[in-house]
Amino acid sequence: MTDDIQVRRIGADEVDQRLERLADILIDCVANGDSVSFLPPLTRRRARVYWRSVADAVICNGCALLAAEDGAGQIVGTTQMVPATSENQLHSARVVKVLVERSARRRGIGRRMLRAVSELARKEGKTLLTLSTTTGSAAERLYASSGWASSPGVCSPLTAHIARRPSSTSISDTTKLASRLLFTDHICPVPF
Ligand SMILES: CC(C)(COP(=O)(O)OP(=O)(O)OC[C@H]1O[C@@H](n2cnc3c(N)ncnc32)[C@H](O)[C@@H]1OP(=O)(O)O)[C@@H](O)C(=O)NCCC(=O)NCCS
Repeated sequence: MTDDIQVRRIGADEVDQRLERLADILIDCVANGDSVSFLPPLTRRRARVYWRSVADAVICNGCALLAAEDGAGQIVGTTQMVPATSENQLHSARVVKVLVERSARRRGIGRRMLRAVSELARKEGKTLLTLSTTTGSAAERLYASSGWASSPGVCSPLTAHIARRPSSTSISDTTKLASRLLFTDHICPVPF
């Protein structure tokens, strides 16, 4: 189903060139109420600021930005691998912002991006990848079904997430309590 999808690493210059498309994807996820650090409504200006900060992290912090492109070369999903900087954690990295545009979901793109990020981690000598998400989310199901191990004891067992919704929704809809789950993937080095 993802035959026409290519996942590749993109650089900071390409973030500049494709800023509007990257902003579209983030705005789409936030508008859907996905737990991706922002609350709706996310303005285009704010989304651009965010992606420019990612471009800076690509240049300055070794952040790897991966983009999934469809057959027409349009970006439909992204994720990032952020290497740890502590001296005793150089073997590890965090995977953040696994984002697939709503219209492209359930076609295996999220899973393809996870595979690509694991391959990249292996090439860069990382042996531990971590990511976190909320319980009950599509992301939790993606990570679990992609072979990542859940490590609930490693992070805070219960975190309150207050999700602001449009004012037309009732109070009971506005408060969402969810536990945050940490997933890990132990990367086996390729044998020589
Ligand atoms: C989570 C997300 C990245 C999944 O992307 P996707 O491309 O739709 O995922 P895939 O098509 O690769 O799904 C692979 C598997 O994950 C599981 N899965 C994914 N979405 C699911 C959903 N909505 N409900 C149930 N299972 C789901 C299924 O097991 C699926 O396999 P299947 O389609 O053969 O049943 C996407 O829903 C998304 O962008 N969500 C919002 C952003 C977010 O929350 N990111 C994670 C936190 S940073």
